[in-house]
Amino acid sequence: MLKGKNIVLGVCGGIAAYKAVELLRLYVKAGAKVNVIMTRSAQEFVTPLTFQTLSGNPVHTELFNLFQESEIGHISLADRADLFVVAPATANVIGKVANGIADDLLTTTIMATKAPVLFAPAMNVNMWENPLYQQNEDRLKKFGYHFLEPASGSLACGWEGKGKLPDPAVILEKSRALLCPHDLSGETIMVTAGPTREELDPVRYLSNYSSGKMGYAIARVARDRGARVILISGPTSLAPPDDVEYISVISARQMLDAVLSRYQEATVIVKAAAVADYRPATTATQKIKKGADDSLTLELEKNSDILAELGRRKGQRILVGFAAETQDLLENARKKLKAKNLDMIVANDVTLPGAGFESDTNIVRLLFRDGRLEELPCLDKEEVAYRLLNRISELRGGK
Ligand code: CTP
Repeated sequence: MLKGKNIVLGVCGGIAAYKAVELLRLYVKAGAKVNVIMTRSAQEFVTPLTFQTLSGNPVHTELFNLFQESEIGHISLADRADLFVVAPATANVIGKVANGIADDLLTTTIMATKAPVLFAPAMNVNMWENPLYQQNEDRLKKFGYHFLEPASGSLACGWEGKGKLPDPAVILEKSRALLCPHDLSGETIMVTAGPTREELDPVRYLSNYSSGKMGYAIARVARDRGARVILISGPTSLAPPDDVEYISVISARQMLDAVLSRYQEATVIVKAAAVADYRPATTATQKIKKGADDSLTLELEKNSDILAELGRRKGQRILVGFAAETQDLLENARKKLKAKNLDMIVANDVTLPGAGFESDTNIVRLLFRDGRLEELPCLDKEEVAYRLLNRISELRGGK
């Protein structure tokens, strides 16, 4: 989403200004073109040279500087922005913009832009709680300006509470969301993610290596593109995404119940979960003790195939499955696509480096009901999610 996009990063004077350096690095890494505007007080904390070196662009500091204006005028900076981010945003700058004051380069450019503007405030907790500040924030929100909540913790001023600049990764995620098209608004997308755990006794279970990263990325990107998202997840170490309805399950049977109780609301279902095919036939109530024999045989019984159940009830919904394979990738994936009545299957060879469960990247092939095949290169899971949702959006368009 950020690749090739023009971001104007406004940096205000606060101790968190140094974190804007990290944010700039993340934008540049994601392929964005960044122009930095610093207020005069921001330059007391970090030098313009740092931002200039990392962005590869001149840093803008003065409204009435003939040289800077002749390079890129402040209006063209405002016009060319796809996104305007102010991080850290001080109470002073927020207060000025809320009241229509444009008395320096940053406030003038914010007021001149038609791009979405995101404020990431950082200040003393008492300033943040001050009704004057809150009123200014509310006023700007009413006019369509976007805000991130400050994080809580111990503040540089010695106070504890809300006021820290949100983590640069959080600002990056919100930036991505603001640059996304809203082509999935009106859709309800159900996503399943993560592994399931099949209990053997009070201390043991059968499971698999699924991390949930792929399914969570799909949930986040679908949300950013305007969909209402229901995420049904097995146990993972990931934080549930904000603004997503999150249903936590443990076993395949719980996942089946959750899916069947909610699937009717969905217009699209993406089953990224790695569901255990079998569960222990009995769950011991006490820990199974080591016996004298050298081997132990477990009896397993089959879990229902949730995706196949959905395939039978699919109606007009778009149904997308995953096929994690270690051999005969396309052949196995095609069989699953047909047997489970899917519109699309995402096939991945989990043995490839850069693909599979724990990795942050994935290498997938998309197979469609009409026989089409699309091969994607090694991409980060967010990007895979983005491309997958492009195809889903097209399939929905065809309904
Ligand atoms: N799936 C499911 N319920 C199951 C097993 C799998 O809903 N009990 C779904 C998965 O979420 C995935 C798809 O079916 O979208 C394929 O899962 P996979 O484990 O690759 O295949 P299986 O159908 O279980 O076949 P096999 O394990 O033999 O490869």
